Amino acid sequence: MSREDLMAMTRALVAHGLRGTMELADAVVRVPAASYTDPGRFEAERRRIFRRLPLMLAPSCELPEPGCYKAMEVVGVPVLLARQRDGAIAAFLNMCTHRGNPLASGRGKASRFTCGYHGWSFGSDGTLLGIASPQDFGVVEKAALCLRRFPSLERAGLIWAILDPASTLSIETALCGYDRLLAHFGFENWILFDQRTLPGPNWKTAYDGYLDFYHLPVLHANTFGRDFFNRANYFAWGPHQRLATPSKFAQRTGATDQIDLSAIPEADWPMDALMQGVWTIFPHVSIASFYGGGVRGAMISQLFPGRTVTESVTTQYYVMERPPETEEQRQGAHDQFAFLKTVVEGEDYATGRRQHEALMSGLLPEVLFGRNERGGQVFHQWVDRVLETDDADLEALFASAQPTVAAAPALAAA
Ligand code: FES
Ligand SMILES: [Fe+2]
Repeated sequence: MSREDLMAMTRALVAHGLRGTMELADAVVRVPAASYTDPGRFEAERRRIFRRLPLMLAPSCELPEPGCYKAMEVVGVPVLLARQRDGAIAAFLNMCTHRGNPLASGRGKASRFTCGYHGWSFGSDGTLLGIASPQDFGVVEKAALCLRRFPSLERAGLIWAILDPASTLSIETALCGYDRLLAHFGFENWILFDQRTLPGPNWKTAYDGYLDFYHLPVLHANTFGRDFFNRANYFAWGPHQRLATPSKFAQRTGATDQIDLSAIPEADWPMDALMQGVWTIFPHVSIASFYGGGVRGAMISQLFPGRTVTESVTTQYYVMERPPETEEQRQGAHDQFAFLKTVVEGEDYATGRRQHEALMSGLLPEVLFGRNERGGQVFHQWVDRVLETDDADLEALFASAQPTVAAAPALAAA
């Protein structure tokens, strides 16, 4: 069924491309500038969005084998992801239950974690294995002092967790069926080629940039070029959105030129052509495909709010469908990833920083999202919606969100 959805979307993109049209949102939407700059609202976003919704914390290939772990800090929460003996993923609060010291740091492989403060040790399944000098410590119930566990789910080669051990929200429900589409990348079989972490501006200012193509030929004139198409059609599964160019052309692995989808039978449309465009995962991830060195790759950008309203942090993962086999392929992938650093850091985030500082003046009351920028419209509507929704109603909020993809979008008049 999800392949049919991909076909329907591609059919619509090709049809729009042939007619020179795009899908437009109903109206221009205004967002108060204060929604970017207000520190109180920023705190609410950290708490009510990032501490209550599933977050995509790692591609599966970052923890490829049993025993692999990754420690990270997300909106002030120390998190430990650990692949279990049976291959399942567990997400823990990365705090020793003695006095709270973070147990692990960085990434690695381990069958147990020993706290660097007083030496308590925990299994990779979170069980408290041993207390240092137990004869002196006093009697405690070990079973009650295991690591605190977060709800987690691994789907489509990606790992999600909710940073609230008591959450009752189903991660599956919150994905709104989007994981079934993402599964067509086959990320569970890809490899992690490289990764880096970049500082950025306010998280919504930064994320807006992943949600439109409107800026591409202007802001990225010196990198992507002035001829880059600036139109996108949007497809949504609840708050999760795919942007793709309404065009008959698509890129294909190994091909230097784009392929003309209108010239080949639908049955022969290659899967990577069906997956083109940018796939965003609300509230903080964007996935874009690249072909550096001729091997299919994707940059997964994972964005988190920083400590203040003016800061964010982005980890970029460059994943590849298969390991580069030749030096040329390896260099090509490396160059592609280096190029994306220039684009994001030097253009998107540098602009976001200037834009956000200007908004902090408080003198521009609102910003606009045009009919051609539906991605930003939907994103900000969902931010508002989640902020307003009580814990008990979150499940229903996502359960009621219907995909807008199953049917091919009706064509606008040429
Ligand atoms: S805080 Fe971990 S052993 Fe004391
Ligand atoms: Fe950009």
